[in-house]
Order: sequence, then C-alpha cells, then structure tokens
Amino acid sequence: MTTKRVYLDNAATSFPKPPRVAKAMAQFSFDVGASPGRGAYAESAQARRFLDAARSSLASLMHEPDASRIVFTLNCTDALSLAIYGIARHWRRRSTPVHMVTTAMDHNSVLRPLNDLAADGVSATHVAAASDTGLVAADDIAKAITPATKLVCVVHGSNVSGTLQDVKAIAHRCRSAGVPLLVDAAQSAGHIPLSPASMGIDLLAVPGHKGLLGPLGTGALWLGPGMETLVDPLRTGGTGSQSENDVHPKTLPDRYEAGSHNTVGLAGLSAALTYIETRTIEDIQTHEAALGARLLDGLLCIDGLRILGPQTMESRCGVFSVTSPGVSPTQFAAELEGDHGVLSRAGLHCAPLAHQTFGTLNSGGATRLSLGYSTTMDDVDQAIEAVEAVHSAAHARRAAILVP
Ligand SMILES: Cc1ncc(COP(=O)(O)O)c(C=O)c1O
Repeated sequence: MTTKRVYLDNAATSFPKPPRVAKAMAQFSFDVGASPGRGAYAESAQARRFLDAARSSLASLMHEPDASRIVFTLNCTDALSLAIYGIARHWRRRSTPVHMVTTAMDHNSVLRPLNDLAADGVSATHVAAASDTGLVAADDIAKAITPATKLVCVVHGSNVSGTLQDVKAIAHRCRSAGVPLLVDAAQSAGHIPLSPASMGIDLLAVPGHKGLLGPLGTGALWLGPGMETLVDPLRTGGTGSQSENDVHPKTLPDRYEAGSHNTVGLAGLSAALTYIETRTIEDIQTHEAALGARLLDGLLCIDGLRILGPQTMESRCGVFSVTSPGVSPTQFAAELEGDHGVLSRAGLHCAPLAHQTFGTLNSGGATRLSLGYSTTMDDVDQAIEAVEAVHSAAHARRAAILVP
C-alpha cells in the first residue's frame, strides 16, 4: 500500500488551492488576457473587473470599506519592504533621523531590510521574546520607542513556533507613542479574522498565497487612513491612469501599483477569496484550531520531543516546530517524508533571531509542520504517528550507540 502524501508546509504556501483558483486563472488566460485599465475594449474592462473583485474581496475580509486602501504586491516580503523602505525614504528625504523597532520573532523579510537600511543611517532595536513561549511584552515595545522612532514592525503569527503576539496591546502602546504599527500577517491572514483598523494597526502586510489560498506571486499591503502620506512609493511608472502626467499619480491604489499587474495571479486570488467568503473565515479558524489542538496533544505525548513555543492552543496559530535529541531537523524531515509521506520544512525558517530565542540557532533549527484549510484529522493523525516513529527510531539509534 502506498503511503498518502500529507502536505504540512502551509506556512510556506498553501496547497492544494481550492480548485476554483486554477479555473479562474485558466479562464482569465484563455478568455480575457488583457491588461486592466490599458484599453477601452471589452477584454481590458473585464480584466479590470477581475482586479477590482480581488481588491474588494480582500478589503471586505479585512472589514475595510475603502478598497483602494489595499495595494497589491508580489508577496508578503514585497508588502513589508514597501512599508519599511517607504517610511524610511519619506523621513530620510526630510533629513529626519529614523529609528525602527522590531522583535526577535520577526522574519528575514523585516530583519534584512532593517539591516540593509543601516547603511543609510537607519537604526533599529530588536525587542527580545520569551525563550519558552516566543511572546513579546507590549511594555518592552513601548520601552524601545524613542523620539526618533518612525515605525514599529511586529510579526503576528510566528512562522517558527506559531506564537500569536498580542497585537492589540502592542497597537495600544504604539498609538500612545504616536508611532505607526506595521504587522506582518503572513501566518495569520486567512487563518483567523483580521480587521486591522479596529485592532489599532496602521499597516498590514499579507501574502496572497498562504492562508488567503491564492497563487504564488500575490500579496498585499493594507494602508490605514493617512499612511499614504508617510509611505513613499518605491516604484513609479505606468499605471494606465493620468497618462498626460509624467509624475506618478498620488491617488490610491495607483500610488503604489506601478506597471502591469499580475492579473492572472490576482484572478486566482479573487477566486480564492470567494472560497473563504463562502466557507467563512470563522469556519476555517474553527477547523484549524481543532486540528491544532489534536496535533499539539499528540506531540506533547511523545516523550523527549521538544515543541517550540506555547504548550497550549492559547496564543497559537497552526505552526508547530519540533526538535528531537540526536537527530538533525533536516534528517528528521527527510525521514518524515521518505518513510511516512509527511511533508515538513526543516531549518531556520528565515527567522534566525527566533531560533536564537529558542536556543535552536546553532543546532540546525527545527522541523516544522504547518496546517491549512484542507488538512484533515487523518492527516494530523498520520503526522503524529510519523513524528513518533522518527523520534523513537532516532532514540533507539542513539541508545544502540551508547550501549557498547
Ligand atoms: C512570518 C513571515 N513573514 C514574511 C514571510 C514572507 O512571505 P512571502 O513568501 O509571501 O514573501 C513569511 C514567509 O514564509 C513568513 O512566514
């Protein structure tokens, strides 16, 4: 009997996508094909409708009445870069000192831009997280804010430990200090309801291709009211609007969407968002929470296995990383796949400071299992059995070496 392959790398990208995603992309490619806003003919108008539908659906998922506050990007990295470099550029052009605050749980999509900007004189503070839970104290963020702080950037759900930060408490501290808050929702968008305005967030970066179930190559940045005056565009060029003007339009969303769109991808994202709308985000959240509780329970029963981050489902999303003494995360993942058909992701997960926080930076990181909307209880049970088997086999190998 062949082992069923169980995809548990939804934190990298969701798979499989709802079938309507590929259908919408094919329909766009075969029947429409034109670029939105680049012609008066029917196909261009139809392409514009695909683009508008994706924007409206994403706005409505975020409880944002003004869809133009959603700007499309290539992925979550691109959305984070737009916010971080855009704000730095705004203040550097005014010769104002720039300091930014982030956390030890943040992804390289935040750490690398901040390191890159250091060469331009932008300073940064990385607020530590608790080494057991990965939680960052909102008060520590408040303490890191200085008069020069122009942005606080915090990851919502950790792609290493699944830790969910208390974004509302952090937002409250940022509001009191008058500093905008950028939230990286790479692991929470599409998994749990998010309404950035009522959470006190100013900028929200999301990938289209993870929990939002769209194709790779899609993402978005939501800009709260007034943020467009603080985030300078990084690209200018053609928009199909205001063609008489050789200065880039200031109006949203064109201000940040220079060049032809990934309209095929956005047609797929639009279809994915209708899937979420129909099923409801609350139903997906309930489903994934039940899967997570089962997986966590199962993993906690495996003697000697370490699970990074919170040991309960409180303050957690569907990302679980484990380490097993004496076996490298890479080998663990290879055995999970080779012997049990379970697909995981081993290593440092582009989050070196998070692994440093958990003490796993110098031992190859961890092996990560991440759940999705289409994961089943059977998949979870197969994963628990697989982890137990690989862990026990490693333990037996170690014991055999130790006993002469
Ligand atoms: C927490 C976090 N932030 C940002 C990103 C970057 O997302 P993307 O691959 O869409 O650029 C990821 C991707 O894994 C992530 O997990």
